[in-house]
Amino acid sequence: MTDAEHEKQAAAAAAAALVEPGQLVGLGTGSTVAHLLTALAERRLEGVRCVATSPATERSARELGLQVEAFDDLDRLDIAIDGTDQVDPDRWLVKGGGGAHTREKVVATAAERFIVIAGSDKTVDVIRAPIPLELLAYGLRATLRELGDATVRDGAPPSPDGGVIADYHGPVDDLAALAARLDAVPGVIAHGLFAPELVTEVLVATGDQVTSL
Ligand code: 5RP
Repeated sequence: MTDAEHEKQAAAAAAAALVEPGQLVGLGTGSTVAHLLTALAERRLEGVRCVATSPATERSARELGLQVEAFDDLDRLDIAIDGTDQVDPDRWLVKGGGGAHTREKVVATAAERFIVIAGSDKTVDVIRAPIPLELLAYGLRATLRELGDATVRDGAPPSPDGGVIADYHGPVDDLAALAARLDAVPGVIAHGLFAPELVTEVLVATGDQVTSL
């Protein structure tokens, strides 16, 4: 296993240890979350029910014996755990490298606690573009024009909800202002900036050492 993979595994194991029997758990998407699924399944906790943020996570979780339910009938979760592409010292995140940020944001918002897991390579001093977007297919060209510096992501399949995955490449300085601007464009379903208010804890692994940002 590479050092980067080892760090993902360490952060994921620390987060899996936070889950308690009987909890409703939101599962993110990506290679760090893959380690979480293994660690959580190994704990064999009684009564844990999960919702998945992507078909890939759902498939892997079920294969490992985790109980996965649709997210249509639940209105809250106890805890959600997910990876990130970037995390800055203020705990702003950029997510959506895997194009799953819309569902990930819905799940994180519904959770009492949102735990972010990352290897040390995900920590940044300053958040940089690209910022992932999910756009409504209807009026796509007009939405891209309104956004300015945004392009449809090459080769990215539509999201499971039919959205077009794109990236914003414009200036990223005032993160709150940019998040508000992206939120205000009607054709933007969701963007990959996650504000610190959403984040309960960021577990970053450096080697074997896991620290909370
Ligand atoms: C998917 C995500 C992932 O959490 C993010 O891309 C990190 O992925 P990985 O753990 O594979 O580095 O936001 O939309």
